[in-house]
Amino acid sequence: MSDQSTKNLAEAFAGESQANRRYLAFAEKAEEDGFPNIARLFRAVAESETIHAINHLKAMGGIKTTLENVEEALQGEKDEVSGMYPMFMDQAKRDSNNDALTSFYWANEAEIEHGDFFEKAVNALKDGGDLELGDVYICSVCGYTVEGEPPEKCPTCNQPKDKFEIVK
Ligand code: FE2
Ligand code: FE2
Ligand code: FE2
Repeated sequence: MSDQSTKNLAEAFAGESQANRRYLAFAEKAEEDGFPNIARLFRAVAESETIHAINHLKAMGGIKTTLENVEEALQGEKDEVSGMYPMFMDQAKRDSNNDALTSFYWANEAEIEHGDFFEKAVNALKDGGDLELGDVYICSVCGYTVEGEPPEKCPTCNQPKDKFEIVK
């Protein structure tokens, strides 16, 4: 399908996805500012936007077999690491935009790990089984993703171990 409505679904999926993350960030800020009900409202609407986003993705045929989905995810992570983020980091240096540079660097470092994980997942599926995966921890500051135990210090952003959160 590639009619206009499929393109519209893709655009709506992008918008709803962004609204979800924006509202979660706004909820954190409202929480910090002492407005717990506004924070909860943002989280509620964010959850609703996620449902819209997933419905749009389903309607546009964006969810395939798990092997295809993992292959698509692997390709996306590789594209970020080999193209988008290096280009964006170079531009951020030229612009002397340190906030952008840090944010792109933190993301790029994590995407490298993500690619490795998805590569293992592709191999496991091709061997006919699920991925063997221990506990996974995420650095809540930079998104660094690690299996096993969290490191004493995040190798990407240098934050201490207690900034790591286990993925349920
Ligand atoms: Fe929505
Ligand atoms: Fe990633
Ligand atoms: Fe980190």
